[in-house]
Amino acid sequence: EPTLKEAYKNFFPIGVAVAPRNLTGPEADLIIRQFNSITPENSMKMGPIHPEENRYAWTDTDAIVAFAQKNGIKVRGHNLCWHNQTPRWFFTDAAGKQVTKDVLLKRLKDHIDAVAGRYKGKIYAWDVVNEAVPDTGNQLYRKSKFYEIIGEDYIEKAFEYAHAADPVAQLYYNDYNTENKVKRDRIYQLLKKLKAKGVPIHGVGLQGHWSIYEPTAPELEESISRFASLGLKIQITELDVSVYPKEHERREKKPTDKSEYTADMNDRQAAHYKMLFDMFRKHKDVVTNVTFWNVSDKSTWLDNFPVPDRKDYPLLFDQNYQPKKAYYGVVRF
Ligand code: G3I
Repeated sequence: EPTLKEAYKNFFPIGVAVAPRNLTGPEADLIIRQFNSITPENSMKMGPIHPEENRYAWTDTDAIVAFAQKNGIKVRGHNLCWHNQTPRWFFTDAAGKQVTKDVLLKRLKDHIDAVAGRYKGKIYAWDVVNEAVPDTGNQLYRKSKFYEIIGEDYIEKAFEYAHAADPVAQLYYNDYNTENKVKRDRIYQLLKKLKAKGVPIHGVGLQGHWSIYEPTAPELEESISRFASLGLKIQITELDVSVYPKEHERREKKPTDKSEYTADMNDRQAAHYKMLFDMFRKHKDVVTNVTFWNVSDKSTWLDNFPVPDRKDYPLLFDQNYQPKKAYYGVVRF
């Protein structure tokens, strides 16, 4: 059996989201064998890396980047500007009052200069702005602190600052639910505006937090084609396939109580992953990276989301790091 990176060497790098704890023992072995791109799962986000105005916490990211360089693995940077995991100090002055537009832009620039500057030449693609578009309501822009204080130009400014700090890195806008018709249209409008203004943006990240019920092949293909029609590359930045029916849960407003991983779920998941990778290969001219969000079913962010303490099984490797049925469907084509 080829490994993932071998099977896809003529298509795109295969990535994985990591924390420092994944870089030793059997998980490190699995990462080195199977993957040729990594993304720090949390350590580069504003809160973790810039906890106070004059203090940066580089240790975790330095370790991840060093591991990647030592093993010939590319690094995706995640992320420079997001409404989540951003420390409170960023938006307030010493007296606790909300800062002005000018102050916030200066902070954003300083942050991006420092982070993108430190890893200049070592990050091949950056998620510059993450999740700026809302899921519901009639607004094009999510009402984040960045939007409220700066206005819509915080997005183009973030891209400009990132490009100035690392002119060689590919710059991405990254979001989830990108196959939902309403949200897809909004993201398309946003990206179109940025392109029309000449903002240095090279691609769009489809996070790919999917389930064995979603998206359908036509829904996914529509997203890839629409975004690619703007001259943008596509990266699948945070792929996982939950075994639970997310849309159904959202509609019912209650979680299913299933927690056993059945053979039926395993089979459906294998079929779903096969469909996804068939699609990515079909669009290899525009799909330039596919990254899984976590290493194996032993531990994934979905174990606590959307239902606390409900185990999920969304990845290609099981809780003992062994390949699942879905793995074989992905590497044999
Ligand atoms: O580090 C602290 C630890 O010290 C503390 O004891 C513990 C108690 O809760 O929390 C730890 O921090 C957690 C952190 O993950 C590291 O494990 C945070 O509470 C938790 O909120 C955080 O969750 C992360 C989440 O982003 C935050 O929104 C997930 O690991 C991470 O997988 C997830 O990733 C996001 C992408 O960045 C953007 N797209 C969606 C994706 C999934 O939500």
